[in-house]
Amino acid sequence: VLEIASGTGQHAVYFAPRLAVTWQPTDVDPSYRDSVSGWQAADPAEPDGADWPGAELRSQVLPPLHLDVTAPWPALAADIVYCANMIHIAPWNVALGLLEGAARLGPRALVLYGPYKRGGVHTAPSNADFDAWLRGRDPSFGVRDLEVVVAEAANRGLRLVEINEMPANNLMLVFAPM
Ligand SMILES: C[S@@+](CC[C@H](N)C(=O)[O-])C[C@H]1O[C@@H](n2cnc3c(N)ncnc32)[C@H](O)[C@@H]1O
Repeated sequence: VLEIASGTGQHAVYFAPRLAVTWQPTDVDPSYRDSVSGWQAADPAEPDGADWPGAELRSQVLPPLHLDVTAPWPALAADIVYCANMIHIAPWNVALGLLEGAARLGPRALVLYGPYKRGGVHTAPSNADFDAWLRGRDPSFGVRDLEVVVAEAANRGLRLVEINEMPANNLMLVFAPM
């Protein structure tokens, strides 16, 4: 799994051992890459009594790499490209860079997690509030239209194959090569 925009790294250390996959975290921001490394080095008994698989985890989560989706991507191979909570907290060209780069890698699937508008409308008042907050922070940010993301993915050879409803009005989208 190639993870784009790993952020703190909590998804990486949680999912990799449980899904029994090799996980490559990446982020554009060095402070987040440091955070990923911190989670990799964390005592398995921490942070909150959670059952972190220690040595197993360290071998399944690779050291984080610098990857800016809007710049040329490093030469990587991945079965799955996974990205949570990035495309609404970044300018639109970041979403396009993600789709472009992921399509070029030719993974079996691209998995996107986050809030989306459907048919041009928010799916919940909390998402509308979140969108207003995002746009207040930066007018180029904002909850994206599902149909627009799907169309841009299709332009790059990725078709939507699954929409999974997730807690708190988020969606987990799965794209596959056409
Ligand atoms: C809200 S955080 C999400 C982190 C993590 N995926 C999660 O769900 O908790 C947004 C992330 O997008 C990353 N990001 C923003 N622009 C990016 C870009 N151009 N290329 C790669 N990552 C980017 C940020 O550095 C940050 O880690």
